[in-house]
Order: sequence, then C-alpha cells, then structure tokens
Amino acid sequence: MSIIHKDIAAIREDYSKFHLEEKDVAANPIEQFQCWFDQSVRSQVMEPNAMVLSTIGEGHFPSSRVVLLKDIKSNGFSFFTNYDSRKGRAIANCDRVSLLFFWPELQRQVRIEGRAEKLPAEDSDEYFASRPKASQLGALASPQSSIIDDRNFLQTRVDSLENKYALNDEVPRPAYWGGYLVKPVRMEFWQGRSSRLHDRVEYVNRGGDWEIHRLAP
Ligand SMILES: Cc1cc2nc3c(=O)[nH]c(=O)nc-3n(C[C@H](O)[C@H](O)[C@H](O)COP(=O)(O)O)c2cc1C
Repeated sequence: MSIIHKDIAAIREDYSKFHLEEKDVAANPIEQFQCWFDQSVRSQVMEPNAMVLSTIGEGHFPSSRVVLLKDIKSNGFSFFTNYDSRKGRAIANCDRVSLLFFWPELQRQVRIEGRAEKLPAEDSDEYFASRPKASQLGALASPQSSIIDDRNFLQTRVDSLENKYALNDEVPRPAYWGGYLVKPVRMEFWQGRSSRLHDRVEYVNRGGDWEIHRLAP
C-alpha cells in the first residue's frame, strides 16, 4: 500500500453531536425530512439542498450527479433540469431513482428511493420565470449532456440569445427544460454516533402506510 493510501485510510471522524430514536421521529418521512432540512439551513450547512440524484441508465448501470432540491411537497421532492439530458433520458426509460443528502456538519445522511414524474408544465413555467435571466438563457443555450466542440459553442449561442431577448423581459421556458417530482417509497435517516454505532431509521411505504424500523449500522 502506498503512503498516500495509508493517509486516506487514517482519515476518520468520530460522530457524537446528535442521536436519533424511533420514538422521536415524525410518522411521515417527508415531515421528518422537513425537520432535518430546516436544521441544516439553520446550522448553515453548505448547500443544504444539494443532493445526489442516481438514475438507472443504459445497460442498467446506475449514474449519479448532484442537483438542487427546489421544493419539498407533501408527496415528494422536486428538482429542475433538462428533460433531454442524460438523466432525463434515463428517467424516461426507468422512473426509479434515488436521492442522497449528506450534511457533514450535522453528521447526517438521508437516503430516498422513489419514482420520478414530470411536474405539471405550469409548475415548471413558474419556476423558470423566477430564475435570473442569465440562468434562463443558459438553460436555452445548453444542449445538456450533448458532446460539444468547445466552450465557444456555448458563448456563441448565449450571445445570439441575448440579442434575441434583449428587449424581452420574459424568456419563454423551452419544452425540454422542467421539473421532476420524486415520490418516495423508502427513506432512511442516518445519524452518526460514536464507535460506528450509528442510528439508522428507515421508513418503508406499504400500501400507503409508512412502516418505521431501526436498522443496524
Ligand atoms: C452543486 C451542484 C448543483 C447542481 N444543480 C443542478 C440542477 O439543479 N439541475 C441540473 O440539471 N444540473 C445540476 N448540476 C449539474 C449536474 O450535476 C450535472 O452535471 C448535469 O445535470 C448533467 O447531468 P447528466 O448528464 O447526468 O444529465 C449541479 C451540479 C452541482 C455540483
């Protein structure tokens, strides 16, 4: 083993900040998520709404990338992206996805498994309209996940869109850009504890009801 590998192996944190008991969690995992999310915001976790979205793509390989959570609804979690992107194409073929949050400052991880569906067009319109104009033009300019020749390709497209929409306050949402709602079927809340004896509380949806279990760490 090289020196560098030894150094990596020596990196470890002991967790002792909080604990999580089955009796203290909300009956509904989305409410429990809301509670932890609020604590992350209050604790000034860096980008608390950044989450790893994993999709199942070609050849059944999972594929992961970070996206931003934009809303917590009573029935799920929403994010926005390009529907023609690699992730969009994967979801069109298989709606089973996972979301992962890691909030190191709070020694917490949340895992979500569920099904993704497109948000209604009005919701995507509303969110698109709320974005800064530069972000709107960026979404229009970028054929997300396609191979492009160079950075200049994007700049040329942005320049021409800036001209096209110079006098318009409203940039229309392109049909290929919008939101998804992930409706959870399983969620797990992980709280780091000392000596690797972490707390794990799992929610599983069975016929519309949420069962709650403790899992071994
Ligand atoms: C902090 C962070 C936030 C991001 N937020 C988004 C997002 O909300 N939507 C999005 O489409 N891509 C977002 N990205 C970029 C994605 O990680 C990814 O590069 C892009 O969506 C293309 O992924 P795909 O080719 O698998 O479709 C974000 C990346 C980072 C690091």
